[in-house]
Amino acid sequence: MSFPNISPEDTTTWTSLINMSRGYRNFSLSIAFSEDPDRFKNFHVRHEGFLFDYSKNFLEAIARNYLLDLARECQLSDAIEAMFTGEAINRTENREVLHVALRGSSDDPHIRDVVASQLSAMKEFVNKLHRGEIRGFKGNPIRHIVNIGIGGSDLGPAMACEALRPFHVPGFKISFVSNVDGAHLRTVLKEANVEETLFIIASKTFTTQETMMNAHAAKAWYLSQGGGEENLHLHFAAISTNIKLANQFGVKQDFIFGFEDWVGGRYSVWSSIGLSLACAIGFERFQEFLNGAHSADQHFRYSSAEKNIPVLMALLGIWYGTFLGAETQAVLPYAHHLSKFPEWLQQVDMESNGKQIGRDGLRINHQTGPVIWGATGTNGQHAFFQLLHQGSILVPCDFIAAARPVDSDERQHQVLLSNFIAQTEALYKGKTIEAVISEMRAAGKSSEEIDHLAPHRVFRGDRPTSTILIPELNPYYLGMLMAMYEHKVFVQGIIWNIYSFDQWGVELGKVLAGDILKEMDEGKINSNHDSSTRAIMEYVMNPGMQ
Ligand code: F6P
Repeated sequence: MSFPNISPEDTTTWTSLINMSRGYRNFSLSIAFSEDPDRFKNFHVRHEGFLFDYSKNFLEAIARNYLLDLARECQLSDAIEAMFTGEAINRTENREVLHVALRGSSDDPHIRDVVASQLSAMKEFVNKLHRGEIRGFKGNPIRHIVNIGIGGSDLGPAMACEALRPFHVPGFKISFVSNVDGAHLRTVLKEANVEETLFIIASKTFTTQETMMNAHAAKAWYLSQGGGEENLHLHFAAISTNIKLANQFGVKQDFIFGFEDWVGGRYSVWSSIGLSLACAIGFERFQEFLNGAHSADQHFRYSSAEKNIPVLMALLGIWYGTFLGAETQAVLPYAHHLSKFPEWLQQVDMESNGKQIGRDGLRINHQTGPVIWGATGTNGQHAFFQLLHQGSILVPCDFIAAARPVDSDERQHQVLLSNFIAQTEALYKGKTIEAVISEMRAAGKSSEEIDHLAPHRVFRGDRPTSTILIPELNPYYLGMLMAMYEHKVFVQGIIWNIYSFDQWGVELGKVLAGDILKEMDEGKINSNHDSSTRAIMEYVMNPGMQ
C-alpha cells in the first residue's frame, strides 16, 4: 500500500470543479428543495443513531459526484488503509498514525496487545480510585484529580469530561490546569485539599514548558501544604511517552501511564491521556466512549465514499473553502455540556490542516484548513447569529444536537431543539421584502415606517448548514461524534495533499519565547528586535513605565 502524494490541482476533476463552482455562488436552497421533494433522502446518511443531514448545502448530485471523483483521484481509499494498517504516514516525523488502534480498530495483534495492557493499567487505577484505595499521605482516599497538561493533553479530556458531566461518578472532582498563567493553577488550588488531591501530569513529551512549570508549581504547593517529599509519589501520577523524565520528576512506576509515539497529541484522548476522563466517568463508561469511536472507525474504513459521513463532511468543507471561498466554518452544538467542543475541534482541525506546504514539499496554491469557531446554542443566537443571518460573508455551519436530554428537563430540551431546528430553516429560507412588508402592514405600520425599516428586516437566506443529530449525549455517541470529525480532518488533509499529523507551525513561537524570557531574566533587550517588540519588552520589564 502506498501513501498518495497527489496534488488535487493535477487531477482531471479539479478544473471541472472550479468551473462548476462559479454557478454555485448564488445557489438557491429554496429552489433546490422545491425542485427535489426528496432532497433530504438524497442528501443524508445515517450510521446507527448518528444522522448527518447535508441537504441544506450548496450542493447537487452532479457537484457531489465531482467531489467524490476528486477523492478517488487523490487515492483516498489507499490513504485510509495506509492509516489503519499502520504505515508511517506521518512522514515528517516518521511515525505511524494509529489513534484508531486505541479504540480497537487495528488488525495488528501486537498493537492490540500493547493497547490492551495500557487499558488494563488504566482500569486498575480507576477502579482502585473509585473503591477509595488510592490514598494520600494522611491515609485519606483521593477525591480530587487535577490534570495538568496543555493542547491535546488537556483539550480532549477536558472537553469530554464536561460533555459527560451527567455520567460522573459521584464523590470525585476532576479539574484541569493548562495555562502557564499561574492564575489557572491558583484558582484550582483554592478549592483543593492537599490530603485528597492527586495531580496527573499529562504530557506526551514531558518537556512542554507550560505543563512542566505547572507541575513544579503543584509540587511546591503540595510541599508547602505539609505533604513531605517522601510521600510525593502518592500525590503525583504521570501520563507520557517519556517514562524516564516522568520518573525523574518523582512519579513512581505504577503511577506512570505510558502510550506510544504513534498517538498524535491532539488525537490522544483515546490513550492513557484519557485517564482523567476515565476517573470522572468510570472505566466502563470510558470503554463505551472508545466503542463509539470504534464504530465510527468501522463506518469510515468500510463504507463507500458516497455513504461515508466523514468523507462527505470533508468534501463539503473542501467545496466551501477551496472552491467557494469560505474561510471559516462554524460549529454550533445545541448542548450546554458541549461548550468546549469547538475549542477541542479547533486544535484537531487547525493544528492538523493549517498548513500550506504540500506532501511534495511545494507551496500549495489552493485554500486549505478553515478557521473553526463556534459556541453552544442557544447562547450563540444572542451573540453572533446576527452575522450568520444577515452578514456579508459565507459561513457554512454545523449544527449538532442530541434528540433526548440526559441532564435537562424534557420541556426545556424541546425548547432547545425547536430553536436548533428553526435556525437551520431560517438560515436557508430567509425572509423576502414582500413578506416583511405584508407583515408590517398587517401590524398597522405606516408607509413611512415600512419604507424606513423593511430593508433592514429582510433575510436574504441561502445560508448553508449541516445537521448532526445523535440520540443522546452519552459516552458512546460522544466518542462517535469526535471520531467522525477526526476522520473528516484526515480526509481533507489527504485531498489537500498536506501532512496532517505534524505541527511544525507551533515551534517558532516556543523558541522565541525562550529567547525573550532569557533576555527578560538578564534585563537586557536584544537590539535585533524590531521597534515594536523592543517597546513592548521595555513596558513589561519596567513596571514604573506603566
Ligand atoms: O501545541 C503543540 C503541542 O505539541 C500539541 O500538539 C500537543 O498536544 C501539546 O503541544 C502538548 O504537548 P505534550 O503532550 O507533549 O505536553
